[in-house]
Amino acid sequence: MVTFQDLIDADERVEPRDDMPEAYRTTLIRQIAQHAHSEIIGMQPEGSWITRAPSLKRKAILLAKVQDEAGHGLYLYGAAETLGVAREELLDALHDGRQRYSSIFNYPTPTWADMGAIGWLVDGAAIVNQVPLCRCSYGPYARAMVRICKEESFHQRQGYELLHTLAHGTPEQKSMAQDAVDRWWWPSLMMFGPPDTESTHSAQSMAWKIKRHSNDDLRQRFVDMCVPQAEILGLTLPDPDLRWNAGRGHYDFGEIDWGEFKRVLAGDGPMNRERMAHRKSAHDEGAWVREAARAYAARSAR
Ligand code: 3HC
Repeated sequence: MVTFQDLIDADERVEPRDDMPEAYRTTLIRQIAQHAHSEIIGMQPEGSWITRAPSLKRKAILLAKVQDEAGHGLYLYGAAETLGVAREELLDALHDGRQRYSSIFNYPTPTWADMGAIGWLVDGAAIVNQVPLCRCSYGPYARAMVRICKEESFHQRQGYELLHTLAHGTPEQKSMAQDAVDRWWWPSLMMFGPPDTESTHSAQSMAWKIKRHSNDDLRQRFVDMCVPQAEILGLTLPDPDLRWNAGRGHYDFGEIDWGEFKRVLAGDGPMNRERMAHRKSAHDEGAWVREAARAYAARSAR
């Protein structure tokens, strides 16, 4: 008799109508919902700069990027709904703290250079984390990730180009870019999750081929990618312990402040309260749209 694990081990895709262990379904709902929540909350840090972009070109690029993030959230809520959960339930779980969004979006964006640091580092980390998800065992999630990753590469490139422009501009522009990189580097490393030794879900998620690489492996891949990119920018990464280890074939890097990570996850980051308050008021202000859509759907169904 072929078991579910046999299918996973044979790299078969699991589709919504297939039999699946309840724990497989619930961990996918958890991860996909939190991914979707991250995309939606992730619109806030950059959205606040759309009206303040320094040129029409930069405004158009940032507008396109923030709209993409909204679309990613909708794809992912759609993927989560194939597992038999309603979007409203997921949003309620976000609003009352039963579900999370990525720690990274709880940091402030005080300068325009933050738009570059987010594109280069946050979207860069997202790409490293999300490309393997295109091979996730759950079909709808993997397929959503293929399109999302294509758009993420535009997000990362526009951020990198923005930082490159600032870093090769006036001394004030270069120091603004350096300050943003200093503030976003370590929180970007935390995006990959806790150390493997403290990851509660990795072992099972990897056995089910939801997670294809461990948190630490993807974090290391991201560091190795960023060091040469920072050199081309002419900016330094804020880690005195960063150095090439020929024996390992990777960059060694300093200790991450996991106390900060835990504080942010516990709701005590710089912007947690503002992000959730803004999210809830946007949800409340949008109630009339949802009511109108329901009324229209009901009338069309007659
Ligand atoms: N922020 C918030 N919570 C985090 C976290 C982070 N950066 N990293 C881990 N956690 C939470 C986990 O959710 C889990 O808590 P839970 O049981 O309450 O859900 C706990 O910490 C233990 O972590 P694990 O490593 O055991 O959890 P996972 O196996 O789920 O791994 C993950 C964490 C690597 C983030 C994984 O969930 C994942 O790959 N998710 C999909 C990608 C994603 O959500 N990315 C978020 C950013 S989206 C984004 O960047 C948008 C882009 O456009 C900018």
